[in-house]
This record gives sequence, structure tokens and C-alpha cells, in this order.
Amino acid sequence: MEREFGVGIIGTGSYVPSNIMTNKDLEKLVDTSDEWITTRTGIKERRILDKDKSTSFMAKIAAERAIASSGLNSQDIDLIIVATITPDMAFPSTACIVQEELGIKNAAAFDLEAACTGFIYALTNAYAYIKSGIYKNVLVISSENLSKIMDFKDRNTCVLFGDGAGAVVVSQVEADKGILSMDIGADGSGAKFLNQPAGGSLIPSSEESVKNKLHFIKMEGNSVFKFAIKAMTKSSKKVMEDINFTIKDIDYLIPHQANMRIIEGACKRLEIDKDKVCINLDKYGNMSAASIPVALDEAVRSGKIKKNDNIILVGFGGGLTWGATLIKWTL
Ligand code: UT7
Repeated sequence: MEREFGVGIIGTGSYVPSNIMTNKDLEKLVDTSDEWITTRTGIKERRILDKDKSTSFMAKIAAERAIASSGLNSQDIDLIIVATITPDMAFPSTACIVQEELGIKNAAAFDLEAACTGFIYALTNAYAYIKSGIYKNVLVISSENLSKIMDFKDRNTCVLFGDGAGAVVVSQVEADKGILSMDIGADGSGAKFLNQPAGGSLIPSSEESVKNKLHFIKMEGNSVFKFAIKAMTKSSKKVMEDINFTIKDIDYLIPHQANMRIIEGACKRLEIDKDKVCINLDKYGNMSAASIPVALDEAVRSGKIKKNDNIILVGFGGGLTWGATLIKWTL
């Protein structure tokens, strides 16, 4: 019989474009103010990718950094999952494009779409593939070029989002370490609150769809806001309760970075100290699926997260979707 093993993250990497767009820059584009954006969201600036680059460009760099930090050779990767709502194109998958860019020969590759919860969904997939013995080393990448689907004339959305990518290598680790519990969920009745209406089979791209701006992100902010606090609280509690942990057992919480008030609302309900919560939305805004792995990589590289720390990654997003993972860190 095969020995018992855990499944965990053995390498992290991230990439954000160097071009910074500040709240002051946005004041020149829409009727907004640094004061409104800061007090309502906590965001001060975000990164914007060059127009001639795309999601796969950022994904490749984040992936290279994750593979290097894992100590594996890129040819050891046997599955690539890219979580994104901004693929390079409808098909082939961005995962296939990145596979070629990285020169990885024998890996299966597919994209996964769960909006801002994409990274948690992808991590859960990686866990299942490894635990079942189908694959050994899975590269999970979340890369988002949201500035390309943003209406820079719509103040309700354009102040919130930014571009970036995060990646992790998931593999076998010591038994009882790594991913200890996970929770993912969806409620399709909330699909109307956050979406990009055109570009699919329902409203194919056309002169009219572009004229009506249906290729941009549409959002009912208030509805998403209320859902977000509840979903993050419930999902974080579930991953703790499933293994008889309480909030006292948690060293760090890495939430999806959409709005400081959402994070504060969830943290208050979870009764977790603020200094245990990793925040970077002031610098990057909401990078959808990439927010959590970028924050994770920064926390790991800065030495904040240490071996045997218990961390919760928790997110929510379009779908509506939500999810959390509780990890005993092994690096
Ligand atoms: O990853 C998941 C993606 N989405 C989210 O997580 C979004 C969740 N929702 C939110 O973060 C918040 O709902 C927002 C930040 C989007 C909006 O904050 P809010 O406190 O819910 O504001 P509101 O929508 O109730 O708007 C308040 C006012 C409105 O003006 P009136 O009608 O009171 O005169 C808006 O028109 O603020 C106005 N407003 C703005 N003013 C200046 C909306 N956007 C802006 C803006 N600058 N950028």
C-alpha cells in the first residue's frame, strides 16, 4: 500500500506590471476622487499591463518564479491549471499557451473559471488530482488582465480592479500537513450581480455589443458587498470546523482583496486580529483570481508565513462563487 501523504504548496511566485495607475490618475478619467476611493475601498493604486501584452505574459512569469521556488524542474509538472476570467482568447485555453511558453512537454493543461474565487477552486482541483494519484505536481496559475475588460468611463467599476498574476506548485508533502480542509460553493441565482455580458454564445461580439459596452465588466456593487462578507465568514468557519480548529489556531488569513470594508466586516465576524490578515489591495486593487496568490507569495517571500503556520485562504466572486482552504504551511 502507498504510504500516506499530504498535499500542499511547495513553491510560490507572482508578477505585477510596473505601470502604476493611482487614484489621482483616475480623477482625470471619471468623476471620482482619491478620498472616495480610499474611504470606500481602501485602494490607493493598481497596476496596468501594457496594451500589447496579455494574461499569458503575466502567467508565464509568475509560473517561472513558482517553479524556481519549488526546486522542481519545469518538466516535472504534469498538470497546468490557469484560473482566469480574462483568457488570452476564448480558445485554446491560456493554460495551453502558457505550457508552450514554458516549454513544458508532458503536462495536461486547462483553464478554470470561477471568477475571483478561481484560485481556491483551482487549488481544490489540484488537491483532488494529487490525492487521487492521477498527477504528482500541479502548477496552479491565476492571471488577470482586467484593465482590458474595464470601462474607464464607468466609475462604479474602473476604480476597483487591476492587473497581476500569482502561481503555486502543488505537490505531495508530509502526511497531516499542507491542505487540511477546503470548501467551495456556488449560487447561480447571483449571476446577474457581476458579469461580462458579451463575447460568449449568448451575446457574441458584434458592432452592436461593443457599441452598447457589453464587453465590459458589469456589477451591482451593493449586492456583491453584502454577499461577500457573509460568504467569506461562512467559508472560513467551515474549513476550521471541519478539522476542529478555532480562530485561535489560525496564524494568517489571506482574503480576496476586493474592498477593505468587506475584509474588515468578515474579520470582525471571525474575531481574528487585524495583524494576522494579509492585505495588499491598497497597492494593487482587486486582481480577481490573482489577488490571493499574489498576497500569499508576498507574505511567503517577506518571511511572514513560516513553517507549520496555519493559514486560511478565502475568496468570493462572480457566479456567485466562494471558497476557502486551510493549509498547514510546509516550507
Ligand atoms: O471581486 C468581487 C468584485 N466586486 C466586489 O467585491 C465589489 C463589492 N462592492 C463594493 O466594494 C462596493 O459596493 C463599491 C465600492 C463598489 C461601492 O461602494 P458603496 O459604499 O456600496 O457605494 P454605492 O454603490 O452605494 O454608491 C454610493 C455613492 C453613489 O452616489 P449616490 O447615488 O449616493 O449619489 C455612487 O454613484 O457613490 C457613488 N460612486 C462614486 N463616487 C465617486 C460610485 N462609484 C464612485 C466613484 N467615485 N468611483
